[in-house]
Amino acid sequence: MRIPQTGPAGRRGGIADGKRFMADGITITFAPVGRSGAGDLVVFTGDDLVLGGAAREVLGQGGCDLVARAAASEQFKGRASSALVLPAPAGVEADRLVVVGLGSEKDRAKLDWPVLGGFTAGKVAGRSARVVLDGPGGETGAREAAEFALGARLRSYSFDRYKTKKKDEDKRPSALTLMLAAHAEAERAARDSEAVAEGVVLARDLVNEPPNVLFPAEFARRAAELSGLGVEVEVMEPARLRELGMGALLAVAQGSAREPRVVVMRWNGGTPGEAPLALVGKGVVFDSGGVSIKSAGGMEDMKGDMGGAAAVVGALHALAGRKAKANVVGAIGIVENMPDGQAYRPSDIVTSMSGQTIEIINTDAEGRLVLADVLWHIQEAYKPKAIVDLATLTGAIIVALGQDIAGMFANDDDLAARLTAAGEATGEKVWRMPLIPAYDKAIDSKFADMKNTGGRHGGAATAASFLKRYVNDTPWAHLDIAGVAMSSTASEINRSWGAGWGVRLLDRLVRDVYEAR
Ligand code: BES
Ligand code: MN
Ligand code: ZN
Repeated sequence: MRIPQTGPAGRRGGIADGKRFMADGITITFAPVGRSGAGDLVVFTGDDLVLGGAAREVLGQGGCDLVARAAASEQFKGRASSALVLPAPAGVEADRLVVVGLGSEKDRAKLDWPVLGGFTAGKVAGRSARVVLDGPGGETGAREAAEFALGARLRSYSFDRYKTKKKDEDKRPSALTLMLAAHAEAERAARDSEAVAEGVVLARDLVNEPPNVLFPAEFARRAAELSGLGVEVEVMEPARLRELGMGALLAVAQGSAREPRVVVMRWNGGTPGEAPLALVGKGVVFDSGGVSIKSAGGMEDMKGDMGGAAAVVGALHALAGRKAKANVVGAIGIVENMPDGQAYRPSDIVTSMSGQTIEIINTDAEGRLVLADVLWHIQEAYKPKAIVDLATLTGAIIVALGQDIAGMFANDDDLAARLTAAGEATGEKVWRMPLIPAYDKAIDSKFADMKNTGGRHGGAATAASFLKRYVNDTPWAHLDIAGVAMSSTASEINRSWGAGWGVRLLDRLVRDVYEAR
């Protein structure tokens, strides 16, 4: 049977079609604070239950009194992440009144605006709402409003394109009107956060898509749509990969009926000729384990083994969408790891693009083989000033750190510190892990330059040490995102299986470090 190697033409959805098909399906607009309009009305309060001036004006004395009485009878204390839902007071034009708590003055000083936006969107799911964004602390800034909108949008995402009956419309608000004095500035600021939201949504879609739809050539086609935003995209097919000598990546791909691709995406928003930041992603569209096949339980999760590549594509979308003033090159290795008569096998020895040879011990340690060649190529061809790779690389990192923080291995303290800071700022947190000679020793091979596994102990660290052998002296950080990219814990800003993890982190890194000069 012939297997298609290219994507079906004219498929709907994706970047080219713009916002119309965005899976969050929510319209967000900014407006001055006003008394009339449709849907629910949302106001904020602190733990002193004092409403802001704008809310008092919209509610009138009667409305304020109702809030005070209802708060007392419902034991609503205005704590952060709590809400009181009431019928609209007489004289107030609204379906319902939703009072959202912001907590103490200390809570409010470090308010997480995306989380507040997500929480609020959750409270008015299935409806539309007007939100009085100017709160008890006074007027809300444009940047904060834009962050609120980002959180609301991310919370509203759900992947329901394959549900033919009941869609997930009741899980998100249909429309939000964010009312604040600085509405015009907020609308401008929100253009940037919209681009970031689109990047996250794109990454989530890619992670959630099944591998019969999102095979390597189709993944590459979707990445190539970034050219519509001014990104230079190069899609490399097997002949080119052979020419470059990518023997490690090609070995992984050879058991699949679907051809591999490597995609290089360049966003040149910075100083012409300045060395770029490189982002590299593991894109295994499905990881069966190959001949060293995985057990059946949970194997369906391995459609998400391209979470690193999805984050890179999503980040490039965000950067190009907001016209970031930085040079960034993204590169993804896209393969499927399958057992087959053609498949690579334990004991094979393959030659990577770097010339180093690898003895295959376990065909399920495939991600590092893909990354070895892509890392090498990107270093040789683009001489980047730093490299960040993202990969759902090991189950061991999930054992070590769980599902709420990614593992980071780095050869450069400065880059590590900047990634840590970007993680704190966005909530996409990373925790630095060690790279020491003992891990490197564990992958020495009897028959080749190295083997592709280092035994049971320190699995995430020996995998990182393997990658290190494919990075020269470029500052480099490897993020093992196996725990955070998929099967994600629900949060105020994410209810999706595929989290789109890393897009906001990378966007923030570029904003704070590479655009800040
Ligand atoms: N894709 C997996 C890692 C993974 C596991 C990601 C669970 C997300 C959730 C990777 O290719 C893999 O199979 N790693 C092996 C390495 C081992 C064979 C040395 C692992 O972690 O068991
Ligand atoms: Mn594997
Ligand atoms: Zn894998």
